[in-house]
Amino acid sequence: MRVALLQFSPEYLQTERNLDTVERLLDGVDADLVVLPELFSSGYFFRSTEDARTAAESIPDGPSVERLAKWAKSSGATYVAGLPEQAEDGRLFNSAVVVTPRGWLGTYRKTHLFYEEKLHFLPGDMGFPVFTVTDCAGNAYRLGVMICFDWYFPEAARSLALSGADVIAHPSNLVRPDCPRSMPIRALENHVFTATANRVGTETKGEETLYFIGQSLICDPNGHVLATASMTETEVVSAEVDPKSARDRQLTAHNHLFEDRRPDHYGLG
Ligand code: ACM
Repeated sequence: MRVALLQFSPEYLQTERNLDTVERLLDGVDADLVVLPELFSSGYFFRSTEDARTAAESIPDGPSVERLAKWAKSSGATYVAGLPEQAEDGRLFNSAVVVTPRGWLGTYRKTHLFYEEKLHFLPGDMGFPVFTVTDCAGNAYRLGVMICFDWYFPEAARSLALSGADVIAHPSNLVRPDCPRSMPIRALENHVFTATANRVGTETKGEETLYFIGQSLICDPNGHVLATASMTETEVVSAEVDPKSARDRQLTAHNHLFEDRRPDHYGLG
């Protein structure tokens, strides 16, 4: 199946414009799974919680999920995309949705909040969910979701892999330089495909500017980079992946990646 990442520069608080931009950029893209960046519809560097609340959407009733569902239905692809969520009780989360041709399937709320996200959002309260989806040919695979800074905590990708993920979709707004060289290791150590869709451009709040580093990338279960984007350009990159090839975690005749784990000895809190 084909995995595509869209890397672009969302405009701050311009949801409708961002949705129109993505619709244009994805026109003609042929893929089974499309991953968009974190907070793709709203922009990232909120100047106030009021701004975050203005941009936040109900899920699944908001404009972004509505548009994602339209794209998924017309293309046959599954979409994973990040957006600010306002829960029914008013709480705000930095979330990602999984939307298939049949509509909204589920939501992940970012567990590890980065920098000033902590001023506006609550940390996720739903663990690391894995969804069963199908490619355009009807083959089922297991899709895990994590968001940006979650990559820094190996437990996130590990949790998804232990829950059976074949592919980890990773909407991102990366500003630190380390993730692109770390994702191949997340993929290798969990024997899973990873698909990191980052953004480009800058956002400024007062005196401070964030520079987003692009370099969206797709990695295979052996830690090889299958596709990568530039540091600065709007682009779609894609790669062919076989989710079944992630499932055999037998490393040698005597070693299994998961069965050889010694959790009793790790002392993890
Ligand atoms: C990040 O988590 N957006 C760096």
